[in-house]
Amino acid sequence: MQISITRTTTPKSMPAEDKLGFGRVFSDHMFIMEWEYGKGWDNARIVPFDKIPLHPASTVLHYGAEIFEGLKAYRREDGGVQLFRPIENVRRMNRSAERMCLPTIDEADAIQVLTEFVKMEEKWVPHSFGTSLYLRPFMFGNDESLGVHMPHHVTFMIIASPSGSYYAEGINPVKIMIEDEDVRAVRGGTGYAKCGGNYAASTRAGERAAQKGYTQVLWLDGVERKYIEEVGAMNVMFKIGDEIVTPALTGSILPGITRMSCIEALRDMGYTVNERLLPVDELVTAMEEGRLKEAWGCGTAAVVSPIGQLCYKNKEYTVGGGKIGEVTQKLYDTLTGIQWGKREDPYGWVYAL
Ligand code: PLP
Ligand code: COI
Repeated sequence: MQISITRTTTPKSMPAEDKLGFGRVFSDHMFIMEWEYGKGWDNARIVPFDKIPLHPASTVLHYGAEIFEGLKAYRREDGGVQLFRPIENVRRMNRSAERMCLPTIDEADAIQVLTEFVKMEEKWVPHSFGTSLYLRPFMFGNDESLGVHMPHHVTFMIIASPSGSYYAEGINPVKIMIEDEDVRAVRGGTGYAKCGGNYAASTRAGERAAQKGYTQVLWLDGVERKYIEEVGAMNVMFKIGDEIVTPALTGSILPGITRMSCIEALRDMGYTVNERLLPVDELVTAMEEGRLKEAWGCGTAAVVSPIGQLCYKNKEYTVGGGKIGEVTQKLYDTLTGIQWGKREDPYGWVYAL
């Protein structure tokens, strides 16, 4: 794919790396291209980061035709830059696109675009361990008409944000409330797709939990409020006795790339990992009997986030003494070690630029 480049004439400088937070600062440039029904993708370009004009009738503003991805560029100790399993993000983006009647992007083109964009923004990849350049590819329907149908005009962009830790707590255990009213997604709906609407619909429960002093909610399934699905915007895993359990991908859960990597790494370490339905009652019984040893969320932004407390129907349970557990710590060390290039990557996950 031919990508035209227009460099900014007013480059910015990176703020102090310990003050980055998540997703607040943006790099100098952005990638953009457009798609038209019957014509395909066109006009791929890297341009100075700026606001974009939108027609007030644009599809995305009314009917939410939008998908996104999230991945990071990591700075290795030797100064090089690498991505983590970017092909998996591309494949998931195409599955999300198919669900939302948006166009897919050729895998090789998508990787080329990501690579060229990150090379262009190299100076924005921070150097401290735990920081990274968060990449946000996204796509939206941009027809200038109010009819409800598959968009015939679509915009794809990538923006980049140098970031530190996602949660203020960092790797410290978080307090989670089990949500038994709102649901994030349903089978047959869009849960497996990374579309903006899923997050808009999740905000109310997250806000209510925050008002009660919890960092996020643990989602239950949309039909029976019986089976555990995800935690906030992350996948979730539990160590119950000697078994590691993570909810099976039944259609309402986002297939996380961190989740997939955790499962592979844990099995490689010799743990039994089962992807299955996990009833909340089973979890509560395990907590009451002291068999829930560890619980953690996993996702690109936070990598691994230990759960120190769980609240269900106004009853509070402490998990693993409120401290990060042995498996959680091992996983964090393994994944971050590979991502930041401190450890050898036996799996072929790293994509060096
Ligand atoms: N679940 C949801 C709802 C998410 O938004 C994310 C983040 O992308 C994840 C899980 C974790 O996915 P990944 O590990 O690919 O970042
Ligand atoms: C993740 O990377 O785990 C996320 O959920 C990203 C979030 C900002 C949507």
